[in-house]
Amino acid sequence: MESTISPSHNNFVIAPSILSADFACLGKEVEDVLIAGADWIHFDVMDNHYVPNLTIGPLVCEAIRPHAKKNGQAAIIDVHLMVEPVDRLIPDFAKAGANLISFHPEASPHVNRTLNLIHDQGCQSGLVLNPATPLDCLDHTLDLIDLVLLMSVNPGFGGQSFIPSTLKKISLVRKRLDQHYSETGHRIRLEVDGGIKVDNIGAVARAGADTFVAGSAIFGQPSYHDTIKAMRNELGPF
Ligand code: DX5
Ligand code: ZN
Repeated sequence: MESTISPSHNNFVIAPSILSADFACLGKEVEDVLIAGADWIHFDVMDNHYVPNLTIGPLVCEAIRPHAKKNGQAAIIDVHLMVEPVDRLIPDFAKAGANLISFHPEASPHVNRTLNLIHDQGCQSGLVLNPATPLDCLDHTLDLIDLVLLMSVNPGFGGQSFIPSTLKKISLVRKRLDQHYSETGHRIRLEVDGGIKVDNIGAVARAGADTFVAGSAIFGQPSYHDTIKAMRNELGPF
């Protein structure tokens, strides 16, 4: 298993969201997309409460865990919790084999406690900011997080269009994370989720993101390999 999710900020990671995969053969979809060149598996959990949609939980995470392998090693399962409340589910996802667990700060009354709980369960932690969520929730949390996930659509559904104002927000967060790194040596990944396609992934990277969630853009195509390769070409030779 990879020991860290954040070796360097320009080590690009492509994390297909299985929300757009064929749920009737999810294990094979996970295997296929990793063989096709994906780095992580992005796992969207929706509860019909925090967001108006209902998806998958720890049982499905446990079921795909043995299929999520890359070159014989366990690949990162990147769990994005769109649920409220949050804490009850964290031990379940840790036991189900999640490597990274991200949540929306407004869905937890005690953000610091939830971040500590994720680490206590042996996972890495992320905070997710919706398009209209201000950056203040990063003020007192950076020491406890491994990833910032910026939503470039409103959460709840795959297949929506990228919100262009996210680019400015990405560059603001990139500055903060770089400053934090220079002060502390603690590297935090910057992931972007929603509406990412071959034709905009380059701009998202240039704004400062290093980790890219793409659901419909990958699973909607006949060749996952060709699509992921086209995305990497846009990212350039880092
Ligand atoms: C939205 C989810 C996303 C979404 C991405 O709430 O968090 O991960 O499925 O899907 P696309 O890439 O189709 O926008
Ligand atoms: Zn997501």
